[in-house]
Amino acid sequence: MYNEIDLDKIDIAAEPPTEEPARQYYFMAKCREWVRRFEQENGRLPKACVTTFGCQMNARDSEKLRGVLREIGYREGTEEKADFVIYNTCTVRENANTRVYGRLGQLKPAKKKNSHMMIGLCGCMMQEPEVVEKLKKSYRFVDIIFGTHNIYKFAELLFTRLESERMVIDIWKDTDKIVEDLPNERKYPFKSGVNIMFGCNNFCSYCIVPYVRGRERSREPKAIIREIERLCADGVSEIMLLGQNVNSYGKTLEQPVTFAGLLEEIEKIDGVRRIRFMTSHPKDLSDELIEVMGRSKKICKHLHLPVQSGSTDILKKMNRRYTKEQYLELVRKIRAAVPDISLTTDIIVGFPGETEEDFLETLDIVRQVRYDSAFTFIYSKRTGTPAAVMENQVPDEVIKERFDRLLTEVQKIAAEACAVHEGSVQEALAEEISGHDSTMLTGRLSNNLLVHFPGERKLLGRYVDVKLTECKGFYYIGEMMGR
Ligand code: SAH
Ligand code: SF4
Ligand code: F3S
Repeated sequence: MYNEIDLDKIDIAAEPPTEEPARQYYFMAKCREWVRRFEQENGRLPKACVTTFGCQMNARDSEKLRGVLREIGYREGTEEKADFVIYNTCTVRENANTRVYGRLGQLKPAKKKNSHMMIGLCGCMMQEPEVVEKLKKSYRFVDIIFGTHNIYKFAELLFTRLESERMVIDIWKDTDKIVEDLPNERKYPFKSGVNIMFGCNNFCSYCIVPYVRGRERSREPKAIIREIERLCADGVSEIMLLGQNVNSYGKTLEQPVTFAGLLEEIEKIDGVRRIRFMTSHPKDLSDELIEVMGRSKKICKHLHLPVQSGSTDILKKMNRRYTKEQYLELVRKIRAAVPDISLTTDIIVGFPGETEEDFLETLDIVRQVRYDSAFTFIYSKRTGTPAAVMENQVPDEVIKERFDRLLTEVQKIAAEACAVHEGSVQEALAEEISGHDSTMLTGRLSNNLLVHFPGERKLLGRYVDVKLTECKGFYYIGEMMGR
């Protein structure tokens, strides 16, 4: 287990071990020595700032980077004051890339001012060869570039950079390796994401994720359970299981396990009070899972079930492998088993070839399912995906007009769905002090909606019963019941 490793006891004069994670512990110890020298020379510890773009997977990866930085001795700082700025990037839509280039441009003058400053880039965008070429050519001031498959080598790459003073680039095309027992720094003391699988094998025709995250591989159930038990011992009570397609968890293991089977094992862990997971692909959501969700005392009443489109024709072109009717039938089964479940989704507008009729099918499915909320995206062409070369790309103004219509509908239904719970008393996990009013706390309900209520800081991380006095569209104002 990571906690038992004492970096100061590692012999850093010896050759680096070849085995993982011992090799990374060795490089963390080497970097720690560098940090101590930095402290002696500058009279302060160096500061690092990790900025995350993209999804929960990236957020969890950033926690791993922060964990390594903490072990090495870095303090956390804001980007303006940091000696080491890291962008953990996303490339799922074009605008994610544009934002990174924009931010990088602003860092250049900052780096000129601070002679210590290093810039690291990692994550999904770095897995695209064109991006790395562009960085090598036009962004020479970047210090370290690595991808999603070798993130566990962060300490080693950092040390290489500290030694060589040259741009370090290390991108792997793919890996089947999963390195366990590395440190991480959680954002919240009481809840945590837990990766259960990496990569994706679905190749939805619009999506770049399988290319930048590689083939699907599942962690061993034992490693997952051990991590969750340790998290619970450390005060965590809510677990979010993470994977691009959690419903196909376990299929590639030597001794296959189903996702439903894994959930049942996690349910048995005493310290776990709430279990969440994302994301579910409709094509792989099994009856066994629905049954387990219906029975469970700990699985939250929320399912994120991306539909992408309501048109069976478009779904086929997207390679989603379900029809509109099959999706609706799935929703019916889930609602029958878990009547008070909150359903959320992702929808893409303007996929190549989408006609007005196809779009009306999307509006129709939104009206039939009545999602509690939906993330709506404008289709973004990703080079290298099959959809990028499909005919009949939809003109921007048509997409924009459809997007606005969809958003209006989604918001109207979400507000109505939210209002249903007004007046009820529900259990909330107090997660944060409200950003607007420091006498208020923000709590999350089992169904993933937020409630703001008067409460003291000492309640953070605790479960409290809250009366949802007023629905504000997509969140509530509430008051705590006597406790
Ligand atoms: N694995 C998850 C989704 C990961 S990406 C799943 O399949 O459910 C998150 C969302 O981004 C997707 O659900 C999709 O709606 C959206 N998305 C992916 N590629 C996109 C693209 N090229 N253009 C617009 N939206 C996209
Ligand atoms: Fe992308 Fe589809 Fe995989 Fe989700 S399931 S990550 S949308 S390819
Ligand atoms: Fe983006 Fe990578 Fe997640 S492309 S959405 S950060 S898997």
